[in-house]
Amino acid sequence: QTEYLPVENAVDKKEKLARAASLVQSGEVVAFPTETVYGLGADACSDDAVKKIFEAKERPADNPLIVHIASPEDVYKYTSQVPKMAEKLMNTFWPGPLTIILPHNGRLSTLVTAGLDTVGLRMPDHPTALRLLRAAGTGVAAPSANRSGRPSPTTAQHVAEDLDGRIAAIVDDGATGVGVESTVVDCSGAVPIILRPGGVTKEQIEACCGAVHVDPALHVDNAAPKSPGMKYTHYAPEAPLTLVDGSESFFQECISSSQRDGFRVGVIIPKSRAGSVEADEAFVLSSDSIVHAARELYGALRAFRREDVDIILMRVLPSEELGFAVMNRLMKAAGGRVWTERKSE
Ligand code: TXA
Ligand code: MG
Repeated sequence: QTEYLPVENAVDKKEKLARAASLVQSGEVVAFPTETVYGLGADACSDDAVKKIFEAKERPADNPLIVHIASPEDVYKYTSQVPKMAEKLMNTFWPGPLTIILPHNGRLSTLVTAGLDTVGLRMPDHPTALRLLRAAGTGVAAPSANRSGRPSPTTAQHVAEDLDGRIAAIVDDGATGVGVESTVVDCSGAVPIILRPGGVTKEQIEACCGAVHVDPALHVDNAAPKSPGMKYTHYAPEAPLTLVDGSESFFQECISSSQRDGFRVGVIIPKSRAGSVEADEAFVLSSDSIVHAARELYGALRAFRREDVDIILMRVLPSEELGFAVMNRLMKAAGGRVWTERKSE
């Protein structure tokens, strides 16, 4: 039985968060909101507690977890050396959607780091998450609170869909804000390397520390990714997603020809196009802005049921700024499938 702890607008917020914190302290796993997505948290120093995260999610053991901390000073509890550029990033972007990879000092459960020499740390920008972390008084290992392979959860309802009955509690504080996960940046070498694009953009990191590299695996499909998690199937909706790269009329052609082939077609489209696209089902994003696409993407991928549609189509988005993270997740959710319009010259 999973305990449900709603804190949004609750008068007894304090007691509910104390309850969640005591569950964490006693080695249980608890889902909680962050500014990016819901996380599935456990005491990062306890092997037994961390093991429960992997079991609940059915997560491969070689994929390390991010450790969430309540203040920047906590970095020094778990790491052996913190270079200047990491301190600069912490000072600039924490609390916020940036995970910093640093050499660890051996105090964390080895399950958290999957046996690597490094650990990913982040201070989330969410009042409820920070209160929970402070009350728990320990680093909290937390991957996204979905079953492995499914879209990450941006509401407590999404968490319950995947994990009800498999975890001790869910802290419900409504929908998350950013909607895609944190940026993972490796600061264990001379130049920071982005291993996973996310809520803090490459452009922002460049403005902060100058040179920044991007893991080549983010651009080229066959290079081996440095972040263990990037190699797995991810974010898969129930019906297969295909991206469409081309004009509005090509998009409609893709829909119509799929329908003629006997498929029921779902589309994810911005509000401005809602009246002009004909499909069997539509998930309408609340605006054309990339911020709303990021926030609403995972909910959209979860919304289509296999009973209702056979395929999902969506047009590609510009991949600058936050669009880099959104397109990275969309390409993974689509398993790399893109239908590209042939240009007639
Ligand atoms: O926004 C987020 O980051 C959310 C919320 C809950 O904080 N968490 C999250 O965790 O997305 P997860 O486990 O779903 O993704 C963690 C990513 C994985 O791709 C993992 O491989 C990578 O971070 N990672 C963790 N530790 C690492 C390390 N030491 N070296 C390289 N990559 C690491
Ligand atoms: Mg995840």
